[in-house]
Amino acid sequence: MRFDNAEESIAYIRSKTDFDPEFGLILGTGLGNLSDEIEVVHQFDYAKIPHFSISTVESHKSKLIFGFLAGRKVVAMAGRFHYYEGYSAAEVTFPLIVLKKLGIKRLFISNAAGSVNPSIYAGDLVLVRDHINLTPDNPLRGINDERLGPRFPDMLHAYDHEGNKKVLALASTLGIKLHEGVYLGLQGPNMETPAEYKFAHIIGADVLGMSTVSEVIMAKYLSLPLFVFSIATNRCYPLDEIGVSTVEEVIKMAQKSGVTLSKLIKEILLTL
Ligand code: HPA
Repeated sequence: MRFDNAEESIAYIRSKTDFDPEFGLILGTGLGNLSDEIEVVHQFDYAKIPHFSISTVESHKSKLIFGFLAGRKVVAMAGRFHYYEGYSAAEVTFPLIVLKKLGIKRLFISNAAGSVNPSIYAGDLVLVRDHINLTPDNPLRGINDERLGPRFPDMLHAYDHEGNKKVLALASTLGIKLHEGVYLGLQGPNMETPAEYKFAHIIGADVLGMSTVSEVIMAKYLSLPLFVFSIATNRCYPLDEIGVSTVEEVIKMAQKSGVTLSKLIKEILLTL
């Protein structure tokens, strides 16, 4: 079903452009502006692509953009889907199947996240090296289609540890402060209680948020290597550091540090 739906999405896209991207980007909160830097060859409203959902979050644009970034051929999802919008994890991750079929060889994912590591401050960037999935759904639930991937995908190498080392070294050369850490995925849309932030810290998370883990599971299933970046937008641990979080503050902080993250992503694209 998903396989056939993705074929239909591809057929529609291919009826409009034969652009063949090398890299995929899922631009989360804060990285919306990176899409403005793409030299656009073709772009689609999600609503026009068969089987795509529409992002209902105002800070997300809902466009699939094909073009050049740092001279490389990319396809960017400007705006992603979230479980909390009412979509299933399967719906949230459907576009990844399409990106894989378009032939990308690597995916870049970004998100905004709260920090539960006392040495990660608001505005800091984090390269994700592992995750803990506490979202209530899984994109692979249901009958498996072996044409897409295995029934029981291994998650030991869901993240590219060798690749991460290179990105950390590159960031250090560029003078960009970049942590490496564990992302905890929760369903949202509410922020967490102090007890939940403490729990996240205790179980080994560095940052937490409402997206990404389903996408990483799907990418691993599809054998798609990736880099995941979190922008820490608010500090949630130790508990006396927690302030009232508003979505406006999260977006403002994400956009501010998104400028540095955009620069880093372009530099990575130049070296790949
Ligand atoms: N919790 C969940 N998601 C988030 C947060 C948070 O504190 N900050 C940014 N995204």
